[in-house]
Amino acid sequence: MRYSLSALALATLASASPVSIEERQGNSGTGPFAPAGYYTSDALEGHTFYAPQNIPSDAKLPVMLWGNGGCSADATGQAPFLTELASHGVLVIASGTPGNGGGTTAEIMTQSIDFITSNAGQGDWANIDASRITAAGWSCGGIEAYAQIWDDRVQSIGIWSSGLLDNYTAANDFTKPVFFFLGGPSDIAYQNGERDYAAMPAGVPKWKGNLDVGHGGTYTDTNGGKFGVIGGYWVEWILRGDSSAADYLTGDGAKNDGWTVEYADLENLSVSPIE
Ligand SMILES: *[C@@H]1O[C@H](CO)[C@@H](O)[C@H](O)[C@H]1NC(C)=O
Ligand SMILES: *[C@@H]1O[C@H](CO)[C@@H](O)[C@H](O)[C@H]1NC(C)=O
Repeated sequence: MRYSLSALALATLASASPVSIEERQGNSGTGPFAPAGYYTSDALEGHTFYAPQNIPSDAKLPVMLWGNGGCSADATGQAPFLTELASHGVLVIASGTPGNGGGTTAEIMTQSIDFITSNAGQGDWANIDASRITAAGWSCGGIEAYAQIWDDRVQSIGIWSSGLLDNYTAANDFTKPVFFFLGGPSDIAYQNGERDYAAMPAGVPKWKGNLDVGHGGTYTDTNGGKFGVIGGYWVEWILRGDSSAADYLTGDGAKNDGWTVEYADLENLSVSPIE
């Protein structure tokens, strides 16, 4: 059993059957909290947690919710990417369970918020800071994430190769930061994401990057490939409050990796370092 040292893992593992990402995918993240992996827990059925395998007792982890591509209930479809993000010191709660062939809804993501806001800071979840939550997802999963933007418990949204499908004027009313990671003009969601970015009101922080890889992204490359790299900096910035990580997204780092970046009103985004 690989999850053994942290209080979080210990307690949840008592009732879970952990699956090590190393055994299945040959990678476990490159962030400062690596190695990371995933597990399920009876405490919240129908969901999958990605976390560092060893969490220092004095460390706090913020939370990223994840909606899978295709709104699939297979919470391991993007496992290398999600493991990479977890290794940067984040608890990821993906909708669904490992290998599940069914589907998910936005409500399943909302259940993750209900669960973690009622349990963070206590018992098995003592290391979790649920005052820092971002909702994110790929493609159809991005629509599930968008649906959380009206929830006061969520501070920001990550749209990965996605965009609103019909009620797109909703973007005119967004008041929270939205980050768009798109696959360039050949990405089927490119127009949707571009349109939402443009529709957001002035003053609300927004960031958009395009990497010419199409709709499929790099989620299943080792450690999530270039999406894993930028995702790691992103969570360190917007969830852990490391302002130096922002430099990758707004400066030469992302550009040198092939991203075409645009952003506005980021000065209105303030995140204090997590403690
Ligand atoms: C778009 O409309 C659907 C259906 O009414 C809703 O569930 C969803 O939350 C809306 N999205 C946003 C971002 O408001
Ligand atoms: C964004 O920041 C500017 C300058 O600090 C401020 O005038 C404006 O009200 C802010 N907008 C929002 C939506 O907070």
